[in-house]
Formats: sequence, structure tokens, C-alpha cells
Amino acid sequence: MSARMPYLDPSLPTADRVADLLSRMTVEEKVGQMMQLDARGDLEDQVLGVHVGSILHTSPERIVRAQELTAQTRLGIPLLVGEDCIHGHSFWEGATIYPTQLGMAASWDAELIERVARATAVEVSSTGVHWTFSPVLCIARDLRWGRVGETFGEDPFLIGELASAMVRGYQGSGLTDETAILATAKHFAGYSETQGGRDASEADISRRKLRSWFLPPFERVAREGCRTFMLGYQSIDGVPVTVNDWLLTDVLRGEWGYTGTLITDWDNVGRMVWEQHVQPDYAHAAAAAVKAGNDLVMTTPGFFEGALQALRDGLLTESDLDPAVARILTLKFELGLFENPRRPDAARIATAIGTPAHAELNLEIARRSLVLLRNDEQTLPLAGGYVADAAGRAADGDPAPRRIAVIGPLADDAQTQLGDWAGGSGQAGWLDGQPREMITTVLDGIRAHVPANWSITHAPGAEILTLEPDPRGETFEDGQPRPPIVRPAEPDAQLIADAVADAQRADWVVAVVGDRIELVGEGRSTATLELIGGQRALLDALIATGKPVIVVLVASKPLVLPASVHGAAAAVWAANPGMKGGQAVAELLLGLIEPAGRLPISFAAHAGQQPTYYNQIRGQHGDRYADLDQSPVWAFGEGLSYTWIEYEDLALDESVLLADGTVAAEITLRNVGDRPAIETVQVYVSDRVTSVSWAEQELKAYRQVALEPGEERRIRIELPVSELTIVDAAGRRTVEPGEFELRVGRSSRDEWAQRIGFAVEG
Ligand code: NOJ
Repeated sequence: MSARMPYLDPSLPTADRVADLLSRMTVEEKVGQMMQLDARGDLEDQVLGVHVGSILHTSPERIVRAQELTAQTRLGIPLLVGEDCIHGHSFWEGATIYPTQLGMAASWDAELIERVARATAVEVSSTGVHWTFSPVLCIARDLRWGRVGETFGEDPFLIGELASAMVRGYQGSGLTDETAILATAKHFAGYSETQGGRDASEADISRRKLRSWFLPPFERVAREGCRTFMLGYQSIDGVPVTVNDWLLTDVLRGEWGYTGTLITDWDNVGRMVWEQHVQPDYAHAAAAAVKAGNDLVMTTPGFFEGALQALRDGLLTESDLDPAVARILTLKFELGLFENPRRPDAARIATAIGTPAHAELNLEIARRSLVLLRNDEQTLPLAGGYVADAAGRAADGDPAPRRIAVIGPLADDAQTQLGDWAGGSGQAGWLDGQPREMITTVLDGIRAHVPANWSITHAPGAEILTLEPDPRGETFEDGQPRPPIVRPAEPDAQLIADAVADAQRADWVVAVVGDRIELVGEGRSTATLELIGGQRALLDALIATGKPVIVVLVASKPLVLPASVHGAAAAVWAANPGMKGGQAVAELLLGLIEPAGRLPISFAAHAGQQPTYYNQIRGQHGDRYADLDQSPVWAFGEGLSYTWIEYEDLALDESVLLADGTVAAEITLRNVGDRPAIETVQVYVSDRVTSVSWAEQELKAYRQVALEPGEERRIRIELPVSELTIVDAAGRRTVEPGEFELRVGRSSRDEWAQRIGFAVEG
């Protein structure tokens, strides 16, 4: 290699460098450039044999080795290194692990989420990883799906707001910024529209429905410059997304003018052969994937021989490869990898990973992610009126000693608290979990923050599950691990008796229950939504003691709680709240912070109600099942504070608007309690008559407003009429003139909303 070669000259325009390099590459090098392989495999073969363009799932040691090997290659094309850094740098020991995406979504705070993504990028970029496969823009639908916790919930508008913030945070001030990482919008598109919650099953979804709800968040980040898109596993109307010309060419590249890089999901190309049986062999599958416009092909080792065979058989020409290779090289040039391959940087690692500032940010988002679902007779905050002393302990106005029984299998389970994609969650072989001392469990948090003269007991009370190996083997055909079979544990009489004895001696019971990693994630959807194992019997027994029971649900997704929970004094959903989750929960229970989270997703009363999302299409016979109503237990947008905010006097500036106008409204909020609040004012619009069936109401805007006790504020809401669209029968997004209703309130439950009508004229 000589420094005279134009592609190595940083003073030349990127397009010239790409053209020069492309002209020097053999066809094998081009095919290899399109591949992303699992770095836990044979690195020498990947880099020197297959000329791989990108790797993922690489341990700190293997990243260095891969780059040493790259330096030995003929053209020295740097590797692009990707990883799933979904809520922090998941598989880097000692990195900051934040609440899961669904937990973060409960904050409804885009600015805070942008800061989390920025901090994540600072950690990730220091370790030689250039690219995160995040955020997930799928709309959560059937709660039985194992990946609900990876989403931002059920509402397309909220997803768009939060995903856009996360992309901005990752990509920072642009690719030349050494702390920037590439973001990925995934899984494009419709992946979450499962059949019965079964992961990656065919999505039974029309193009109009895609355009109505599933595509808008993707369109937003595509237009805003999210540099990569990952394509879902599933097929739609018989066509795998990987080769779906309508989605990839007409919509993404065509209508939205997207010029970024596409990557398949794990072995999507091979899957068309061995799983979906829509391609006879790897040559045909590779040719179809290239022709459909895929750039990087994730973990399909057979793509190499398949594509070469396709070239020999005339299914592909070399020039078919060039646009994809050019896009990958462009990304590498724009990241400056030829000049600086952004290797792991020991000095930056030492100052970036798991810093106190990131821990503080982690605590901030954990606090905001907690949703107070129930609080009978103001049980919480416990005895009320606390302030923290210098040691962070709640200082009690009442000096009497108190006792809390902290019970439950998840009260002190540090790794489970982190959720999926977090060190111990099984996707990476080089670490078992994150350091215990970085994680505050609920038990740790309560012990550290109660007044010094309170006492704490702990009993697990229940087991959740046992595992059996799947007799069909430990891996699927594509080499991915096959999850073991979950057997729910039987209630254990002795564990329950010990817990009940603790409860009876306590002033309050904090029961920490939920799900475990074996019930969460890819290929780990659940048939039921109930608490698994001995947890239901445990809750029943604790609540039967008559002691005030505070249920803390540490669960990746909304679960169905037993009927006895109606007798619980309080309930808090913490999702998977990250490393600082236990501290945040303790602070909330003790009144050191205010509950501010709002549900980004509805909680069903029964798995058979699925789906329970709030913005369902109008029209059905009746509004209930014969044996159950259809109402979720807690609906999208709900969440309590330790105070109450009155909404009054909703008024519009004008009630007749033109298509280019703006709906301008004001509403008065009044904090009528004695604690401060961060109120999430939610703005829904109902289009009264539509040319096609449509949702009864949709979230169109929201504002977060801090209110001191007794404070009253008049809030202004402005919403362009151009946002009041539906998708008509021809698939066009349009504002239809007519009557609308503006609903402003504290959740999607309309009984709370202030309403006012207005008209849009044609
Ligand atoms: C498969 C998952 O579906 C995707 O979300 C992830 O980014 C890739 N595997 C890489 O781990």
C-alpha cells in the first residue's frame, strides 16, 4: 500500500476516495465488505479470508486483534465495529447501565434521554465501538412479545420524540466528533406486529396500517439523519423485509430520500433459505438481498460463497455490489476511520467508563422512570414529610423507630434488575454480569436511605422458575442460542411462612416481584402475563396479613398482577431500572423524590385482552368481552404524583381553523396538594368523522410542567393543523376538514380530560 493511492488522501472529497478504493477492490473484497460477522468466531478467517467489512459482539481483546489483522490486509480497509449498546454499553464490564428503553420512556423526557444517549456514546466510543444498534422504534402491541421492554411503548408520537432524542445523543455533533457513534433505527418495520406475541412471526399488517402508525417514527429519524437502519426479521404479506422493495426502495429510499446505510438483522439472508423457505439456496438469497438494496448483511457466513456463486451464475453482476460497498466505505471515510480507526483508547476508557457523572445521570433517569400506579390513603411516602440528611438518609419528623419487611425474589437480585442487553443477559460470552458494587438493589437502597433508627428485614418469599435444556439442542440453525425451557416454580410454603412472619412484625411490607431474563427478550415471548412461580401466592399471603403492602414491580414489561393487589396499599412499576434503580425506588418510597413517571404502555387486566393499546381503531360490537371488560388496569399516560393537579378552563384562541393554521389553546393547572409535582400534560386529538376508520384519539403533544404546592399556571399549547392527519384509503397522509375535539388531561383515560371542539375548514 502506498501513501500515493488517492483513497488514502484525506484532502480529497469522500466521493473521489470511495471511487478510487472501489476501483481497486476485487469482487471477493467487495462481497466481504458487505458482511458483518460475529467476532466470537474465527477472526483470522473473517478478516484475512473473507475480507469482512464489519464485526459485532467483540470482546475488548478481540477488537484489538481484529484491527491488527486488518492492518495486514492488502487495502487496509478499517473495520466498522458494532454492538448493542441499548441502555448503556451493555457488554463492557463496569460501564453505566441505565434503565431499559421502556423504563426511560416512562420519563417522557426527551431531553433527559438525549443526555443518556450522549453519555452512552462517550463510554462506547472510547472502547473502539463505532456503532450502536439502538434505538428500537417498534410499537409495542401484544405484551406477550419478549421484546416489549426494548421499545419506547405503544404510541407512535411518543416513540418519535424519544427516538429522535436518542439518535441526536448518540450521533452527537457529527461523525467527525470522536465521541459520536452511529445510531440504528430498528427494526424496520412492523416487526412488533407479531402473531400472538411470537417473536419474528409474519407481521399481518397492511401498507396503510404501516403508514398510519408504524412508519412515522422511522420517517422522522430517517429525515433527521439517523445514519443506519436495521431491517426486521419478519415478512409482511409474504415478503421478508430484507427483500421488500416497497419498504426499502419505494418508501425509505424513494419517498423519504434516505441515503444512510442499511443492515439486515441477524442472518436475515440465511433465514430466507433455512427458515422462511422463500429462496432455494444462498446464491439466490444473496442475489435477492443485494438487489433489494441491503448494504451490510449481519451474520450470514454463507453470504460470501452465496454471492460469489450468484455472480458466477449471472444472478448478480459486480456492479450490483457497488452501491452498497460505496455506502459502507462512505460511512468509514466520514467517520475518519482511514486516518484514525478509533481503536480502544486506554486513557479515554479510564475517564469515560462508569464515571460518577454518568452514575448521577443514571440516578436522575431512574428516578424519572418510576411510575406510581396506586397509592391508597396516601400510604406513600412512608409516614411522609421527609428530607434527606447529609448522609442521604430520610430524616423522620416522627422519631419512633419503624420496621420495613423487604420481601420478594427480586428485592436483592442485582443482575435481574438490569434487564436484557446488560452484561449477564446472555448475548455476550465474555462477562457474566456487571460489577455488583455498581448496582443498588431495592434492598440496598432502602437500607441506605431509611432513618438510622429504622430496621429492615429481608426474605425472598418465593422462587420464580427453574430451567430445563430444550431437547432440540442448545442452538438454533443460525448458531444463536436456543433459550432453555422455563418451568414455573411451585409456591414454597416455608418461604412464604418466613415472609409472612417478617411481614407481621413490620410496619410496612415492600414486596419486590416481577420477571427474570429467562422470560424476556428475543425468542423468549411468554404465553401468559401473570407473575411467574411462587410470586402470586406470596403476594396473596402478604396482602392477607392486613399490613400495608407496597408492591414494587421490577418487570421488563407490564404484567398482570393477581386480584389481591387491589388490597395492596401502593404499587410502583420500575421496569428494569438500571444500576441506580434500587436507590431511586427507595427515595420514592421514602418521599425524598416526587413520582413523575407516566406509563408509555398500558397494563392489561388479563393476557386475553391483548392488545390493550389505547389508540385502537373505532368500531366493534359492544365494548367488552362477555366475561371481562376490555379496559386495561392502568392505561397509557397514567401515573400518580404525591399531590393532585387540577386541570381547568381549557380555551381555544380560535375554534375554526384553516389547513395552514395552528390550534392554540390554554389550560390552567393548579397543584392542590402539599408536595411539588412534575406534571405531564397530555394533548390528544379526536377526529370526529374520518373517511376511513381511525383511532378514537391520538397523542399529538405533551408538556412537562413543574408545579410547587399551591402553584397555579396557565399553560399554552400550540399544535399545527398539519399534524392532525389520518391516512386515507389510498394510503395518503392527509388532514380531512371537519370537526375535531381537543382533549387535554393527565392520561389517555378520557374521563379525566378537559375537552373542547374545533373545526378545520377545507
Ligand atoms: C438480533 C436482534 O434482533 C437485533 O436487535 C440485534 O441488534 C442483533 N441481533 C445484533 O445483536
